[in-house]
Amino acid sequence: MTSPREPAPAGLPPVPELVAVAERIAREAGRLILDGRPQTVGVAATKSSAVDVVTAMDLASEELLRRMLAELRPDDAVLGEEGGHRAGTSGVTWVVDPIDGTVNYLYGLPAYAVSVAAVVGEPTPATWTVLAACVHAPATQETWTAGRGLGAHLDGRRLTLGATPPLAGCLLGTGFGYVAERRRAQARVLAALLPQVRDVRRMGAAAIDLCQVATGRLDLYYERGLQPWDLAAGALVVAEAGGVVTGLRGAPAGSGMTVAGTPERVAELVRILEEQAADAPDGAGRESG
Ligand code: IPD
Ligand code: CA
Repeated sequence: MTSPREPAPAGLPPVPELVAVAERIAREAGRLILDGRPQTVGVAATKSSAVDVVTAMDLASEELLRRMLAELRPDDAVLGEEGGHRAGTSGVTWVVDPIDGTVNYLYGLPAYAVSVAAVVGEPTPATWTVLAACVHAPATQETWTAGRGLGAHLDGRRLTLGATPPLAGCLLGTGFGYVAERRRAQARVLAALLPQVRDVRRMGAAAIDLCQVATGRLDLYYERGLQPWDLAAGALVVAEAGGVVTGLRGAPAGSGMTVAGTPERVAELVRILEEQAADAPDGAGRESG
């Protein structure tokens, strides 16, 4: 479980320095994708050309992030959605998503972001420690930052999770994978949850969803199938706002399941997701006939 406000491990670069780098490069990449999104990307364009533009912007954004990191933090490793892993020597890995919410970007919906995190340890959610994070949403000009032990902020305003209502009053965020069989399983779990909560939102960018939990705009969030770059930065923002981010059956958050919110509501949601076998292999748990 990502626990809130633990101090950063000793012997590493100062966390504020890493936060500043995360914010600087996320803003720069955000400018690139916002300015580089031609009007014709919208649904009016032919789908194939629109998708090409999005793919090109994804690649260009990650290239820019990697170029800036090579200048600012040459000894660090990088793990990115598009370019994979590049080894480093410092012990720090930058985990980057050049556009989280690519479908929103394609359709001109504003919920897309550049997500940047600095982690130490193996760059996998099961074992890493996230030190610094920035999620920058260029279309809404909102920027979330967090530093381990230093709190979470939205545009400079400190975020602190308050008490959440009982589950029946909770606004629950979630997301779905891209593969039909996975979605069938996710729909089954959602059907069980929907009657138990205030309402459900599927906004289309996992990094922003996590930050919305930290901001109090969602009470809870869960999703199966997140990749390291989807959750690294947002998970630290939640933890530093006083929330928890975890998986099921005592496992840390990761591709198996990611659940975020206040400790009490997360415990409740985890119990329901476990009962629903929300982490079962795709295809399992389907009613026959
Ligand atoms: C996706 C978004 C979406 C989530 C998917 C992710 P992408 O990332 O975060 O909200 O439901 O699981 O893959 O493809 O837009 O970078
Ligand atoms: Ca993503």
